[in-house]
Amino acid sequence: MPQGFSRKEGTIAAGWYRARNFVLLCVVAAGAVPAARGESLLERGEYLVAAAGCSNCHTDENGGFLAGGRALNTPYGTFYTPNITPHREYGIGAWTEAEFLRAMKAGLAPDGGNYYPAFPYVAYAGMRREDVLAVKAYLDSIPPVARPNRRHRLPWYLRFRPGLWLWKFLYLAPRGAGAAGDPDPERRRGAYLVNALAHCGECHTPRDWLGGLIESQRHGGTAHGPDGEAVPNITPDRQNGIGKWSDGDLSFYLETGLTPDGDAAGGAMAEVIDNVTSRLTKQDRQAMVRYVMSLPAIENALKTKRKKTRRDPDEY
Ligand code: HEC
Ligand code: HEC
Repeated sequence: MPQGFSRKEGTIAAGWYRARNFVLLCVVAAGAVPAARGESLLERGEYLVAAAGCSNCHTDENGGFLAGGRALNTPYGTFYTPNITPHREYGIGAWTEAEFLRAMKAGLAPDGGNYYPAFPYVAYAGMRREDVLAVKAYLDSIPPVARPNRRHRLPWYLRFRPGLWLWKFLYLAPRGAGAAGDPDPERRRGAYLVNALAHCGECHTPRDWLGGLIESQRHGGTAHGPDGEAVPNITPDRQNGIGKWSDGDLSFYLETGLTPDGDAAGGAMAEVIDNVTSRLTKQDRQAMVRYVMSLPAIENALKTKRKKTRRDPDEY
């Protein structure tokens, strides 16, 4: 019967087809897997650089991406961020992985000198080693920029870098694992994003007279944030913090910069939202929200209310 024949032939053909596809798939997969992995290492590095806000400090509006030169005004003086593009002379293109790991996790320069904590290595010390290396792989892939570094403008008594050993002894305790014992994987991921990568506490925590974060007040807000700006309490305290915000409010704010009362985020936070939190995956933003909302409420009655954003004159 022609029908039976064709069915049989169809079956043989289909079998052959499947076998051929299987072989092709294996060939493609064998070639594609390493390529895809290579690509995803860079993609991961790029994502981590955004999540860690490197460009907030290392990109100056008059310079190239991550080419440094941005002035950071602190109560201790003015720091000018260095060039971290892979330029071999002006950037960090000649650094080894070990040197990069030491800088990020121990705040040590290749010559053994200490970095100032204006570089938030106290937070990055909590980053996973493989994440630091993904960051390095990505940094190695961006365009090198020939821009020389500028010296910091600091009072004489702070120019002595060995003095930072004492500071590090007092304050360098990795926090990335802050929630390592947390049985909830989403909160654990949120803690990693908030503490080790996005370093929210570097701005939202008051500092003692030596410039170390006051751990008992972490995320409780401070009147003396970066550039002398007040930074609000982001713990779920109902009076002074964001205890009246819903999870959705916080997630929406971190994505769009709009508060529940319709104000727009200003100052340093607008940059954090543009460069960091709006670029996270929905899932990571959700993890961040979950962790922030689970923080102990701190009753910090500092007057750190949001600055009123300029309103449209038509509103008056
Ligand atoms: C809050 C601002 C800030 C952020 C965010 C920041 N840095 Fe820095 N970084 C600095 C400052 C300031 C220095 C200089 C420190 C010093 O001179 O002691 C520095 C120094 C460095 C150095 C040493 C460069 C050299 O030439 O010695 C590297 C490497 C570096 N940062 C990488 C990064 C990476 C990667 C990120 C993101 C994961 C990042 N930084 C995020 C402020 C920042
Ligand atoms: C570079 C400093 C800086 C960093 C880092 C930072 N913030 Fe902020 N944040 C601010 C400032 C300044 C404000 C006040 C913004 C304003 O006046 O509109 C603010 C406001 C906020 C608010 C609004 C609170 C309110 O009552 O209006 C929330 C929520 C917030 N930040 C969460 C975060 C989270 C979460 C992170 C980490 C992903 C973070 N911030 C990282 C400086 C910072």
